[in-house]
Amino acid sequence: MAHRPTVIRTVSALRKALAPFRSRGQGIALVPTLGALHRGHLALVKEAQKRARRVVVSIFVNPTQFAPHEDFGSYPRQFETDMAALTEAKADIVWAPSSEVMYPQGFATRLAPEGAALAGLEDKFRPHFFGGVATVVAKLFTQVSPDFAIFGQKDYQQLRVVTQMAKDLDLPLKVIGLPTVREKDGLALSSRNVYLSELERMHAPVLYRTLLTCAGRIKAGEPIEMVLEEGRLDITRAEFALDYLEARHALTLAPIASLKDGPIRLLVAAKIGKTRLIDNLGV
Ligand code: PAF
Repeated sequence: MAHRPTVIRTVSALRKALAPFRSRGQGIALVPTLGALHRGHLALVKEAQKRARRVVVSIFVNPTQFAPHEDFGSYPRQFETDMAALTEAKADIVWAPSSEVMYPQGFATRLAPEGAALAGLEDKFRPHFFGGVATVVAKLFTQVSPDFAIFGQKDYQQLRVVTQMAKDLDLPLKVIGLPTVREKDGLALSSRNVYLSELERMHAPVLYRTLLTCAGRIKAGEPIEMVLEEGRLDITRAEFALDYLEARHALTLAPIASLKDGPIRLLVAAKIGKTRLIDNLGV
């Protein structure tokens, strides 16, 4: 039977558990999550195991990255199911602090990322989001002190923001982004997919199909803005309320007008019913 990962709930216990790994010279990789794990997260754990002898998975539904009207209260929480998946995946440690441990009484420091965090994409619709993410990820990085941290590329802007944050704060780790894991019909795996009704689930792959079509046409030399405008129409015709479909520089996320100024990343966010989905694709 696989060994159940050790669940740790306080920073001092975490440091104590990690010390023997470090003294034996064993590398540590961190996979930060909000829980509600799916195959995408497990692919991150697998990559973490390739990079380091020891793998820590954090499970923390971080209140500071949700606005009051968002789904913090209803975000899927399934700790025992997650533990079963992480036992199977042979993770070593599950770092699962409470909100009080992460943000104790008197907590008063918050990061305010700029650059990619102010690109006018997710930040335009969720202005609180990257401050909350950068703060909690900086804390996770200092609590665990991993050699590697593994993120999915589905939250592409987040990946750019945390990569820059680690660099700017001289944190001695490598941030790695892994390709999005998808359903057979192209829908990006997300813990929020459980919110979709049967009909919404049928429409949902339109986002990825539109990204594929736009990427192909832009690569073939068609004008970017015209291609995106048609893509936007395709998405809204499929019952989505579109927040954005944009072509950006893949590293800075600055707007980009031509293929030669690339590499280009296409990014989309749209709401179907009550569920907001995001996706992205390299050109
Ligand atoms: O992408 C997520 O799951 C979260 O934003 C993260 C990185 C774990 C920070 O809470």
